[in-house]
Amino acid sequence: MSAVRAVVTGGCGFIGSHLVRRLVDRGDEVTVFDGVDTPPPDLADLAGQVRYVAGDVRDGDRLAQAVTPGTDLVFHLAAVVGVDQYLARPLDVIDINFTGTRQVLEQAAWVGARVIVASTSEVFGRNPAVPWTEDADRVLGPTTADRWAYSSSKALAEHLTFAFARQHGLSATVVRYFNAYGPRQRPAYLVSRTVHRALNGRAPVLYDGGRQTRAFTYVADVIEGTLLAAASDQAVGEAFNIGSMDETTIGEVVALVAKLTDCDVEVRAVDTATRLGPAYQDLRRRVPDNTKARTVLGWHNHTALADGLAATVDWARANPWWLALPDQGG
Ligand SMILES: NC(=O)c1ccc[n+]([C@@H]2O[C@H](COP(=O)([O-])OP(=O)(O)OC[C@H]3O[C@@H](n4cnc5c(N)ncnc54)[C@H](O)[C@@H]3O)[C@@H](O)[C@H]2O)c1
Repeated sequence: MSAVRAVVTGGCGFIGSHLVRRLVDRGDEVTVFDGVDTPPPDLADLAGQVRYVAGDVRDGDRLAQAVTPGTDLVFHLAAVVGVDQYLARPLDVIDINFTGTRQVLEQAAWVGARVIVASTSEVFGRNPAVPWTEDADRVLGPTTADRWAYSSSKALAEHLTFAFARQHGLSATVVRYFNAYGPRQRPAYLVSRTVHRALNGRAPVLYDGGRQTRAFTYVADVIEGTLLAAASDQAVGEAFNIGSMDETTIGEVVALVAKLTDCDVEVRAVDTATRLGPAYQDLRRRVPDNTKARTVLGWHNHTALADGLAATVDWARANPWWLALPDQGG
């Protein structure tokens, strides 16, 4: 049997680069399509085994050079991600999620490839009725708050995906990730920024008292869920929550990271309303119901938070290039 031909949009990013490594390890022929034209340092050892096409995912002609006839699988991960980004570049967030996803779906439909579209827990907004099943309601704030542009544009990308599946028979699946964390994530998110600051001798930051909860999911488990979705016929035309059900406060995470990094710098309390302005609106609880992923895909969240954080800290200590990145994300 010939090797699976896979394309990963956003393959130079955090989750994308982990996915690329897994696909290469299992013997797939992998093409990365990303806006950045040099692979990240931790994919350098795969040079020669991965084809890179640099381009904007909204550019159909460029995309066609990556998603060529004979492509079996397209993993669409390219997006503008992170609170700092969607406050600074709401237009790019919206346009790349909508136009870019449309281009990917059209190209995949053209060559007859199966598509996995990365979506987010953010689509549920601040629905207070956790845990959220896949068909839970979306509860959002006003359109005047840029915070919701990411959620809405990802939801539109999901609608596009299902519309292509129904109208064009595209074999497509949506996977919704929940607070993915792990090695090499940009230091702009709770876990990555706290590890980065602590190992650089800077005070970890705790937002709004730290009692908000999240569903932290280690990147290896995220990749596993993505691959299981791609391999399942039952997953076609469906959405799956790929997230841990261990509801954890962000205060607990900051304390755990401080312990793992032997950080003795006092935590700095920050109020998001003052720091990020009214465009940012936080949510108190985020927890998926992952029953569907477990029963349909056979997915399990294997990595306990303490183990995932320890692996992330170990990796950070061993990668000075990452520790030297500027602190990001407010
Ligand atoms: N990290 C998380 O916790 C999380 C949670 C939910 C959903 N997701 C989704 O998973 C996917 C990957 O997220 P990530 O955390 O790896 O983000 P990331 O920012 O690390 O990676 C995104 C990649 O997309 C590329 N990109 C951005 N705009 C592009 C464009 N116009 N054309 C081509 N490439 C472009 C970037 O260069 C980057 O390499 C995204 O779709 C994101 O919305 C992530």
